Amino acid sequence: MYVCICKGVTDRDIVAAAEQGATRMSQLKECTGLGSQCGKCARDAKAIFNEAKQTA
Ligand code: FES
Repeated sequence: MYVCICKGVTDRDIVAAAEQGATRMSQLKECTGLGSQCGKCARDAKAIFNEAKQTA
């Protein structure tokens, strides 16, 4: 499922970033480009990222 349509970032990409050690939204944004255009994805991305960090 696409979370960030502008940058083509999926929920799997977010989980993968958490598994690879990203712990902050800034790191997630840096490595995926997520949220750098319209910003509408930020809230959903954060929720998915927080959940992924707990299981990573
Ligand atoms: Fe992520 Fe637009 S949907 S920046």
